[in-house]
Amino acid sequence: MNILFVGDIFGSAGRKIVREHLGHLRKAREVDLVVINAENAAGGFGLTPQIADDLFDLGADVLTTGNHVWDKRELIDYMNSVPSDSAERPRRVLRPANLQQGLPGHGVFEGTTQGGVDYAVIDLMGRVFMNGTNDPFHIVNDLMAEIRAKVIVVDFHAEATSEKVAMGWHLDGRVTAVIGTHTHIPTADERVLPGGTAYQTDVGMSGPYDSVIGVETSLVLHRFLTNMPGKFEAAKANPKMCAALITCDPPTGRASAIQRIMMGE
Ligand SMILES: [Fe+2]
Ligand SMILES: [Fe+2]
Repeated sequence: MNILFVGDIFGSAGRKIVREHLGHLRKAREVDLVVINAENAAGGFGLTPQIADDLFDLGADVLTTGNHVWDKRELIDYMNSVPSDSAERPRRVLRPANLQQGLPGHGVFEGTTQGGVDYAVIDLMGRVFMNGTNDPFHIVNDLMAEIRAKVIVVDFHAEATSEKVAMGWHLDGRVTAVIGTHTHIPTADERVLPGGTAYQTDVGMSGPYDSVIGVETSLVLHRFLTNMPGKFEAAKANPKMCAALITCDPPTGRASAIQRIMMGE
């Protein structure tokens, strides 16, 4: 079976390029499961229910997020609009599993593909250079104990390459894929680890690449040059969709291949 993991959608340029490519990619590559990190889909900051619905309409099965999950407050009501055992769209939007306890939403979704394969998606966030997260290494162990599916995709939303690589080895042989997000820069280290886990340190952003990780270049340069505060706005130019295509064996969940994908206009 084939799993497509799409990296952080950034603003309208990111949504446009994903709209352009997701449909034909799903067909051509016979994709069974689509996971998209959508934490920056709304103007670079957060996700709205309307945009979530649009991404589900395009064929997303599960949407993951990260440190920007609460940027649009209406997402909280959306997440709370269905019970935790629901498989409806609002339940398929995840926030990192290792935030403070008792927050809205969920960090794990378990579902079944149209082809009848049980799967789980785990959203986790790193601790190195990031705030508000609990130990992802122990929490993922606890989560794994509850999951029955063999096909398990982990979005590890983290800053430090070392922490991400370590998580890959921590979960090798226990999950189908550990895909890094958050830095918005794709890394060239995609591989299948010896235990059968597909790994990539960062899948990269789906958004405008004539930018500083999605934001209008002049605004970020101004901040670096002057240290003055200023509003950040999403850039538009040179959109690319970054994704990873993972092939795995459904009965065991073991990955056999991972391919890096970058598509422009
Ligand atoms: Fe992001
Ligand atoms: Fe992030």
